[in-house]
Amino acid sequence: MTTLINRQYYLAARPAGLPTSTDVPARDVPLFAPRPGEVILRNLYISLDPAIRGWMGDDPNYIEPIAIGDAVRSSVIGRVVQSNSPDFAVGDVAMSLGGWEAYTTAPAAALNRLDENSGIPLSCFLGVLGPTGLTAYFGLLEVGRPKAGETVLVSAAAGAVGSIVGQIAKMQGCRVVGIAGSDDKCAWLREELGFDAAINYRSCGDYEAAIRAACPDGVDVYFDNVGGDILEAALACLNKFARVAVCGWISTYNIADAPGPSARRLWQLVANSVTIQGFVVLDYIDRFPEGINQLAQWLMAGQLKYREDVVDGLDNILPTFLRLFDGSNQGKLVVRIPE
Ligand SMILES: NC(=O)c1ccc[n+]([C@@H]2O[C@H](COP(=O)([O-])OP(=O)(O)OC[C@H]3O[C@@H](n4cnc5c(N)ncnc54)[C@H](OP(=O)(O)O)[C@@H]3O)[C@@H](O)[C@H]2O)c1
Repeated sequence: MTTLINRQYYLAARPAGLPTSTDVPARDVPLFAPRPGEVILRNLYISLDPAIRGWMGDDPNYIEPIAIGDAVRSSVIGRVVQSNSPDFAVGDVAMSLGGWEAYTTAPAAALNRLDENSGIPLSCFLGVLGPTGLTAYFGLLEVGRPKAGETVLVSAAAGAVGSIVGQIAKMQGCRVVGIAGSDDKCAWLREELGFDAAINYRSCGDYEAAIRAACPDGVDVYFDNVGGDILEAALACLNKFARVAVCGWISTYNIADAPGPSARRLWQLVANSVTIQGFVVLDYIDRFPEGINQLAQWLMAGQLKYREDVVDGLDNILPTFLRLFDGSNQGKLVVRIPE
């Protein structure tokens, strides 16, 4: 039997700034037969998420850093090509924690089986019906706790998480304002997703003035995907008893020692009795079936729209990943490895 070769992109060094091909080079390694209880997936889709940049560093985080020498960690969807488990047969499709690699070996117990004939594109399970959709669902409803008539402001609003946050907030009867990095993204938010207003932060000038103009009644929920100066400006516009759901700070991920919000702005927490709460989607892992069911219902009913940015080819993975940080991704970013 021929030995399969696994192409991997692995962490050779912890990046300073944007990761380079020296930090994340390629290698070809032999693929060993699965041990008892394991299966081998031939990856079809690899999810690219901003969080991966955090795992490349060694700052304290919610999961262990990627070890030097390991394949870069990602969620993957793949087809079983070898199985040493009674639970999976060759040809089955499953989602797993895997890596930037052609094949992922994983314990069968850690896989989520997917039905490729359900009528839902498989890649949705990495996005709108997967981690990013669930982040929007639980982060907004459980941490942001929006009420009808309130104003919800969301940053990185045209992205995988932000676009779903805004649509769920609309379904809760809120006024929804998005912040995004281009006129095209802002037009999509307003015209396709039903946002009430959208701010292009690259052209709006003074962030605080732009938020005040778009949110004449102030901000009751700020869903923060970016941190930095946009968070600073949003804090200045909060109403009494506002909630800030801290989902991510993408503007800081490639900057060592990025400054946080100033003490002057954090005083808003006292002045307006504001709650600021960080979360990770894994906090809600026991409720994922509920979240997926609700998101799937909205999707089937046409109440939830999503955009995917699918790039073919494992060898494009590093430059594709970097698009998350220049804003050139249009929705949920995935690499596809065609069969
Ligand atoms: N807490 C959790 O469990 C959890 C789970 C998933 C994701 N997240 C976080 O959610 C956020 C969004 O993730 P995503 O997967 O949905 O990615 P995404 O929004 O689809 O893509 C990232 C977007 O961030 C924006 N961005 C990049 N650099 C920026 C900067 N310096 N300032 C302002 N905006 C910037 C860009 O959009 P523009 O064109 O608008 O600049 C880019 O398209 C990230 O912070 C991520 O870490 C958290």
